[in-house]
Amino acid sequence: MLRTILWKNDKVAMIDQTKLPGTLEYVEYDDYKGVADAIKRLVIRGAPAIGVAAAFGMVLASRQSSATTLKDLLRDLDAARTYLRATRPTAVNLVWALNKIYDTAKMSTDAQTARDVIFKEAISMAENDIITNKTMGRNGSVLFGDGDTIMTHCNAGALATVGYGTALGVIRAAAEDGKSVQVIATETRPIQQGSRLTAFELMHDGIDVSLISDTAVGYSMANGLIDKVVVGADRILSTGHVYNKIGTYQVATMARQHNIPFYVAAPLSTFDMDSEPQDVVIEMRRSAEVSGPPENRTAPEGVNVLNPAFDMTPPELISGIITEAGVATAPYVESIKKLFKANF
Ligand code: MRU
Repeated sequence: MLRTILWKNDKVAMIDQTKLPGTLEYVEYDDYKGVADAIKRLVIRGAPAIGVAAAFGMVLASRQSSATTLKDLLRDLDAARTYLRATRPTAVNLVWALNKIYDTAKMSTDAQTARDVIFKEAISMAENDIITNKTMGRNGSVLFGDGDTIMTHCNAGALATVGYGTALGVIRAAAEDGKSVQVIATETRPIQQGSRLTAFELMHDGIDVSLISDTAVGYSMANGLIDKVVVGADRILSTGHVYNKIGTYQVATMARQHNIPFYVAAPLSTFDMDSEPQDVVIEMRRSAEVSGPPENRTAPEGVNVLNPAFDMTPPELISGIITEAGVATAPYVESIKKLFKANF
C-alpha cells in the first residue's frame, strides 16, 4: 500500500502527486511555506492528507521560529496557521488539523515543550489516520457483496490520506474480507484524480479497476454495470450535506435515477458541525485546468471558464455515511449526532 506522507530526517516527505501516474517519487520540505505551496499545487491533495501535511507544516514552523518564550512561539505558529489555512478553502480537515496542533501548543508550559508536544501530536495524527481508515473500512465492508462492481469518483484512496484510504479503504477492506470486487473509476475532469491517481493506486495494489470518462456515468448505470457507489468527502455538515470533488452530485443524482446505493466514506475529522451550506466556500480554480495549457489548448483562447473544484450532494441522495464510529443513515441530523456522542 502507498504511504502518501511521512516525517523523515527532520523533514516532511510526500509523494509528488503531480507526477503520477508516470513517476512515483517523494519530495521533501523543511519549510512550512514549501508545504503550503505543495498543498496549493496539489503535490499533496485529498482532505485527510492535506490535514496531516498542514500539521507537519506547523511542526516545521515551530522549528523555523527562533522564539524562546511560549508567547512568541504561539505568535509564530498563529502566523503559520493563517498562511497554511489560506491554501485551500473547502476541505475542513485542514482547519481541523491546524487548530488541533495550535491548541496543543497553547496548552504547553514553555516553548521547547510546545515544540516537542506538537511534533508528537502530528506524528500520532498521521498514524491515527491509517488506523481510522482501517476501522472505517471494516465498518463499510459489510455494505458490499461478493461480485459487486463499485463506482468511485475522484481519488479517496491511500493517496488522499496517509495510507489505506477512505472510499478506497472500504473497497480494500471488502477485498481483504475475501469478496471479489471490481471498481469503475471516473476519470474526474479537469485534474484527472480518477485516471491519474485512483486507477494507478488500484492497479499498484492489484485491485480490478476499469476507467471511464465522466460522461459515461449514466451509460454505465443504465446498462447495469454498477452495483454500488462509494466516494470520499472534503466536508460533511451536521445535516448530512456532503461536499466532495466536482461531479459527485451528478454521480449521486444518476445513482438515485437507477436505484443504485450511493455511499460516502469519511472520518469524523471531515465533519463540520458548525457551518450551514451557505457558509461553505467552494474553491474556484484556474481556467487553464479546463481550457488546457497555452501549448495545448482544448478551448478557444480567451474563452470564459468556470472551474469549481467541489460540489454539494444533498443528504436525500445518500444511502449512508461510513465513518470510523459507525454508519450514519437518514435522518442524518440524529444519526450524525449519535456518532459524535459515542466517540467523544
Ligand atoms: O482537489 P482534491 O484532489 O484535493 O479533491 C479530493 C477529493 O475531492 C476527495 O474525494 C476527498 O478529499 C476525499 S479524500 C479521502
